[in-house]
Amino acid sequence: MSLFGLFRKSLVPAAQNLSRCYSQQIQKVTLIPGDGIGPEISSSVQQIFSAAEVPVEWESVDVTPVRGRDGQTRIPDAAVESMNLNKIGLKGPLATPIGKGHMSLNLALRKEFDLYANVRPCKSLEGYKTVYDDVDLVTIRENTEGEYSGIEHEIVDGVVQSIKLITRDASMRVAEFAFDFARANNRPTVTAVHKANIMRMSDGLFLRCCREVAEQHKDIKFREMYLDTVCLNMVQDPTQFDVLVMPNLYGDILSDLCAGLVGGLGVTPSGNIGAGGVAIFESVHGTAPDIAGEDKANPTALLLSAVMMLRHMELHDHANRIENAVLTVIGERKHLTGDLGGESKCSEFTAAICEKVQS
Ligand code: IPM
Ligand code: MN
Repeated sequence: MSLFGLFRKSLVPAAQNLSRCYSQQIQKVTLIPGDGIGPEISSSVQQIFSAAEVPVEWESVDVTPVRGRDGQTRIPDAAVESMNLNKIGLKGPLATPIGKGHMSLNLALRKEFDLYANVRPCKSLEGYKTVYDDVDLVTIRENTEGEYSGIEHEIVDGVVQSIKLITRDASMRVAEFAFDFARANNRPTVTAVHKANIMRMSDGLFLRCCREVAEQHKDIKFREMYLDTVCLNMVQDPTQFDVLVMPNLYGDILSDLCAGLVGGLGVTPSGNIGAGGVAIFESVHGTAPDIAGEDKANPTALLLSAVMMLRHMELHDHANRIENAVLTVIGERKHLTGDLGGESKCSEFTAAICEKVQS
């Protein structure tokens, strides 16, 4: 498992990789199909993986929370065990209750497996025209603390406090991840995104950690920029950005903004890298309950997340083949789902990709 080649840029030329000619060891991958459109798009990915003869065996798990003896809700043991054993997971969207009930399952998974770095590549899709061409950047989000620490309390009636927790440990490891990632993927620049002018202590610590790590990675250019300036410059000219690293909430917001530059959350992948060797790849969009079960969903985000997963597993040949197929089908514009301006069903889009990976 490695950071190498999460992207097209750093691929081993397909011809060098004759993996298809050899019998490969089948690796188990934990699958969390998710809610709403989750099962349909997961099934699409599974069909495409079969068509491409990916040496992966899926282990589907249910993550519907269970209540423990302490009264707290948590992820079922079987799901946790599967992930700990397989180390690799693919996850569809999970419904998050707003403001009440159990904790977001998405966050519970990040906590359970200490998924400290959230990697979201954002690349213009050839053949799918948006306002911008040639966007090719990656946001790396600290994924375990910051504004997502969940430490909130009411001080007195009408006054609440929310703690933004920033630690040196978490900041150092995500900064190190960002620089290692940049190096492994031949990306020249890392930009730390912050508001240390306002949050002097918390963002100040995050920024100091990034500077410290930058000192040990002199081959990578280091920039620091305020979050608001990044937003302004991003919508004016996103091509000036490369790898960006930032605290949790900034990454949540900025990654959505970046996704919007290339076609939205329906086409952008995401990977969560954990400290204990577990990595979970996921689509970041919602469960789309309005179209669930209607065969209308676009599986691209989950599929491209699955391609990232294959590169993480060093199955580059299969990753390239599937990625090329999905990009070609989107570029041909004959089998697009409604969100991309087409009229095709999820199953038709899937069948077109299956045909391409087999040819
Ligand atoms: C994301 C999502 C999650 C987040 C939600 C579903 C908890 O928006 O992965 O970006 O806020 O992190
Ligand atoms: Mn988000």
